[in-house]
Amino acid sequence: MNRIWNSIVGKLWATILLLVSFVLFIVSVLLLEFLGNFYGNQAENTLRQQAVTISKIVDQHEDPTASIYVIDDLLGEDTSAIIVDVSGKVVDAFHEEKNGSKIREILLNDKELSRVFGEDSPVVKEMNLPSAADADRLEAHSVLAAPLHEGDRLNGAVFVYQNMEAVHENIRQTNYIVLLSAFIAFVLTTFFAFFLSSRITSPLRKLKEAANSLAEGRYDTEVPTPQHDEIGDLAVAFNKMGRQVKHNLEVIGQEKEQLQNILTSMTDAVISFNRDGSILLTNPPADRLLKKWRDARKDKEGDIPDEITGMLNHVVMYSEEVEDELPLDGQYFDITISPLYSGSYIRGAVAVFRDMTEQHRLDKVRTDFLANVSHELRTPISMLIGYSEALSDGIVETEEDREEMMKIIRDEAMRMGRLVNDTLDLTRLESGYMRLYKEPTAVRPMVERIASKFIQKARDADITLKVDAAGAGEAIVDLDEDRIEQVMTNLIDNAIRHTPSGGTVEVKSSADDGLLEVAVADTGSGIAEEDLTYVFERFYKADKARTRGKGGTGLGLAIAKNIVESHGGWIRADSRLGKGTTMTFSIPFEER
Ligand SMILES: Nc1ncnc2c1ncn2[C@@H]1O[C@H](COP(=O)(O)OP(=O)(O)OP(=O)(O)O)[C@@H](O)[C@H]1O
Ligand SMILES: [Mg+2]
Repeated sequence: MNRIWNSIVGKLWATILLLVSFVLFIVSVLLLEFLGNFYGNQAENTLRQQAVTISKIVDQHEDPTASIYVIDDLLGEDTSAIIVDVSGKVVDAFHEEKNGSKIREILLNDKELSRVFGEDSPVVKEMNLPSAADADRLEAHSVLAAPLHEGDRLNGAVFVYQNMEAVHENIRQTNYIVLLSAFIAFVLTTFFAFFLSSRITSPLRKLKEAANSLAEGRYDTEVPTPQHDEIGDLAVAFNKMGRQVKHNLEVIGQEKEQLQNILTSMTDAVISFNRDGSILLTNPPADRLLKKWRDARKDKEGDIPDEITGMLNHVVMYSEEVEDELPLDGQYFDITISPLYSGSYIRGAVAVFRDMTEQHRLDKVRTDFLANVSHELRTPISMLIGYSEALSDGIVETEEDREEMMKIIRDEAMRMGRLVNDTLDLTRLESGYMRLYKEPTAVRPMVERIASKFIQKARDADITLKVDAAGAGEAIVDLDEDRIEQVMTNLIDNAIRHTPSGGTVEVKSSADDGLLEVAVADTGSGIAEEDLTYVFERFYKADKARTRGKGGTGLGLAIAKNIVESHGGWIRADSRLGKGTTMTFSIPFEER
């Protein structure tokens, strides 16, 4: 109920009702007052008229009987009259009922009415007289006493009286009609006012509903605009606003999506921080990074490494961009943190983490490589300089010593040449510039041919060289024979070099189930377990004593690994210190 009074319908309705009721009330009161007076006056005037006429008739008519008839006709049904002479005696009576005598008595004894004889002017009075129907009951009557003249002389009076019940009845009827009309007007107003106010407010209600649905995110909401008044204009403006809001939101959405796409497709991790260091926004790489940090910092406080927190605080405090390269949990990051402004106030910062681990690794590889190459070159160069100086200075006396020195110089120069070649090979292999010239190659003859190159060398070192390539059968494999020869040469060379005299080196080959395997096993010094995983790294030498002549450059196995892998295969080392080593490489191939 309270709702209706809070609504415009209610207020409008109540206002119209109040206004109309007020007007109706005033009009009814005035009308009733007016009608009451009107009827009273009319009755009095009639009485007055009748009295005047009667007095004229009495005065002018010679024949009293004729005048009696005229007067009798003249008087209305409910009007009675008595004519009295100066002494107060009743001369004539008209329309008297059974209560006539009583009324006569009352009228003649009434002091006010008897003034008619003295004042010579009519006297009007409202009084209660016995009813015509029941003489004991009093009813309201209007009485008029007018003097009668004969010439200039007063010779009596006429008392005209009328029962006012009829007049009062009239007034009551009129009142009833007036009140009924007022009531009907009120009821009709009630209905029409309600109808009117609902009609005015129904478009407003629709607008309200539309505004609500707009607020709930349904931007397609349109309000009908059938009217051409202020509310119609409002509806048009509302629809325009809705379209504008929708358009603006779409534009914002597109921009957001674009930014989101950029952020998501970035390989750098982006984290946006609040002023207090809490995280506002991240992209997928940042999520992965944060997860890693979280896992790594289980027992520490906060998700973010302290270094980052420190940088953030600096950015917020000094409002300047900070850039740094930091190792974080085993990874290297190039970190840039810039302040985020809202006006001139720093509301946070955005940090970009670029993973530099790979670059860092490559950098280290490059510097290590350079260091190793220069280290490897230094020894032979100093030897070359030393021996060649000795030769040119003529310090060497015997021909034998000179020969010996010349041989050393040649060996070292060759070693340097090999180193340079190997380095070039390795760089080409690693950078992918080395091209393989694969051709269908029969495995068995290849293995036997390469192994046979080492027969003399093995014999010199007093080592038994066994070759068993029967397992390879008739297999024909697509491979770059020169490169595979490089691999096998290095493996057999290593085996012979690391096997003492009396030992055995065995080269075995098989080709089953689409897998070519070549193994070089020796009974030599073996490789310590801690070195085993590193022997394929460049410049790695398990025998730390870089004995001249015997020692290689430490690139052979790295090159072998690269070649085998570029054939789609793999290489592995099995060894036991003091017992021997088996190096095996495998290359998958398609059987024909
Ligand atoms: N059969 C083997 N027995 C024992 N140690 C070996 C054997 N093969 C390789 N090694 C160890 O692995 C290291 C690396 O071998 P790799 O062939 O790469 O270098 P290198 O033989 O010293 O030099 P390069 O082959 O370049 O002349 C060797 O220095 C050696 O210590
Ligand atoms: Mg070698």
